[in-house]
Amino acid sequence: MRNGLFIISTIFILISITVSIGITLPKTKTQQHIKIENPSPVTNFSLSTAFEHLMYSYASYCTEVELSNWTCPYCTLNGYLQPLRVTQYLVNNSTNTFGYIGVTGDNQTVVVTFRGTQFSSLENWITNLNFPKSQPYPSFSGALVHEGFYEAYRSVSSQLQVGIIQAQKECPQCQKLIITGHSLGGALAILCALDVYESGYSQLPLEMYTFGNPRVGNVAFIEYFEQIVLQSIHRLVNDRDIVPHLPPIDLNFYHLPIEVWFNNASAPLQYKICNNSGEDPSCSDSLDVALNIEQHLDYMGINKDLC
Ligand SMILES: *[C@@H]1O[C@H](CO)[C@@H](O)[C@H](O)[C@H]1NC(C)=O
Ligand SMILES: *[C@@H]1O[C@H](CO)[C@@H](O)[C@H](O)[C@H]1NC(C)=O
Ligand SMILES: *[C@@H]1O[C@H](CO)[C@@H](O)[C@H](O)[C@H]1NC(C)=O
Ligand SMILES: *[C@@H]1O[C@H](CO)[C@@H](O)[C@H](O)[C@H]1NC(C)=O
Ligand SMILES: *[C@@H]1O[C@H](CO)[C@@H](O)[C@H](O)[C@H]1NC(C)=O
Ligand SMILES: *[C@@H]1O[C@H](CO)[C@@H](O)[C@H](O)[C@H]1NC(C)=O
Ligand SMILES: *[C@@H]1O[C@H](CO)[C@@H](O)[C@H](O)[C@H]1NC(C)=O
Repeated sequence: MRNGLFIISTIFILISITVSIGITLPKTKTQQHIKIENPSPVTNFSLSTAFEHLMYSYASYCTEVELSNWTCPYCTLNGYLQPLRVTQYLVNNSTNTFGYIGVTGDNQTVVVTFRGTQFSSLENWITNLNFPKSQPYPSFSGALVHEGFYEAYRSVSSQLQVGIIQAQKECPQCQKLIITGHSLGGALAILCALDVYESGYSQLPLEMYTFGNPRVGNVAFIEYFEQIVLQSIHRLVNDRDIVPHLPPIDLNFYHLPIEVWFNNASAPLQYKICNNSGEDPSCSDSLDVALNIEQHLDYMGINKDLC
């Protein structure tokens, strides 16, 4: 029953997307215009780190009660994570934004995670991805980002500021900052990382993996991100997940490097590290048909449905 509904709604979504945005998913004729001045260094990708970040990301779909004592299904799954002490929730019900900040049990890492859109509103979210851009960075005025993503981030940014400073105060020995998220949560994580280092809320080295995030901004935004954050992120894309293809390149949205493309449905842990362009034409950009939502909800062989 659920599957049937799922397939019908998926088809419906695909039709509405095609109608409302008029894609032909991104065959990148604008590809040549990407020019990043300082190509980011290739950082090392690790599957076990990716699992950790994925569990933090999926955990943000669970309830605050389960997060408070770290008993949520993803909190304890396969022992990927040590217990996290949640120090702050990031909540704005008017923008439906949720996230949490915590400190790992070994007091080595501060973790910031953002939730994606929940399934009941995923369709609306996907069909409304085609929003205007806003221009929120006075010191880099050409940098434009998706207005809806930016409004969502901004609606919790003051809580974020208080929370991240507090977490570092509670954990002066922490060595590392993780910022992560799945889906829309990955887009919010990207906006958050830029804010944290632009505003100087943290001096900790960043470790950042995102899962199935949509494109966030234009080429100038990517240049600004790389100037401020000074490193690449690992941007995981599961096979034919449709969300990383949106909003389309034709609307001047581009991805941050480095894409890590999991491109074999029968081997969920097989991956390809893509190049520093952010839009490597030999990775998920090589697809233009048969994109789907199922694979948006099934990263690294782990389904998001437990919460
Ligand atoms: C590479 O990853 C390992 C473990 O995941 C980590 O200890 C090391 O610091 C990383 N090196 C760089 C250059 O990021
Ligand atoms: C965690 O909180 C839930 C809800 O309050 C409760 O049912 C559960 O027993 C708690 N678990 C632990 C280990 O404290
Ligand atoms: C936000 O919504 C959640 C779920 O409906 C509710 O539990 C929570 O109290 C609300 N928070 C605020 C600050 O309104
Ligand atoms: C981490 O810090 C908390 C709070 O300061 C403390 O209770 C706990 O014992 C520390 N854990 C370790 C492994 O140092
Ligand atoms: C929630 O977001 C709205 C819209 O951005 C904002 O006006 C409001 O102040 C925010 N509420 C909180 C508690 O941050
Ligand atoms: C995909 O994974 C399957 C199962 O491990 C393997 O047999 C197949 O060769 C892989 N395909 C590619 C293109 O790597
Ligand atoms: C990425 O790969 C494409 C195709 O191989 C190439 O045209 C592009 O210059 C590469 N970009 C970078 C930054 O390596």
